[in-house]
Amino acid sequence: MSASGDLIAAAVAAFGKAYAPYSRFAVGVAVRDELGQLHAGCNVENAAYPVGTCAEAGAIAAMVLAGGRRAMEAAVVGAGAELVTPCGGCRQRLREFGAPDMPVHICDDTGRLRRTFTLAELLPASFGPENLGVGAKP
Ligand code: THU
Repeated sequence: MSASGDLIAAAVAAFGKAYAPYSRFAVGVAVRDELGQLHAGCNVENAAYPVGTCAEAGAIAAMVLAGGRRAMEAAVVGAGAELVTPCGGCRQRLREFGAPDMPVHICDDTGRLRRTFTLAELLPASFGPENLGVGAKP
């Protein structure tokens, strides 16, 4: 297993739990926090479409609930020919807790690594907590 194998395995497991009856597009995400703990999330859609939530939102909420305050690494799992990179809003969600050099691993639905981006590549010249005078929380 690669250095990020446990992280990717957690994202694949989350992918399998996605609730996506409308788009039929499952996404699983896992993040590793500053304590080494893994937190996963899946997309949860809703009949009132805009109320649905992305997998990243679930994973980050789980991290915060567990006491994690820094996202050190993330894995995103999805199917299809295109790379399943985080949507714009989720890039900003990751930015709240991740450094510019945080790796974001993009994987297929079997967990095969397709490409790794840094958060800064996904969200250049970003706005973040520092703009509001807030640093990484202890
Ligand atoms: N989705 C995610 O969960 N994360 C992303 O970053 C991309 C999109 C979900 C939202 C929706 O349930 C489905 O994928 C299709 O857009």
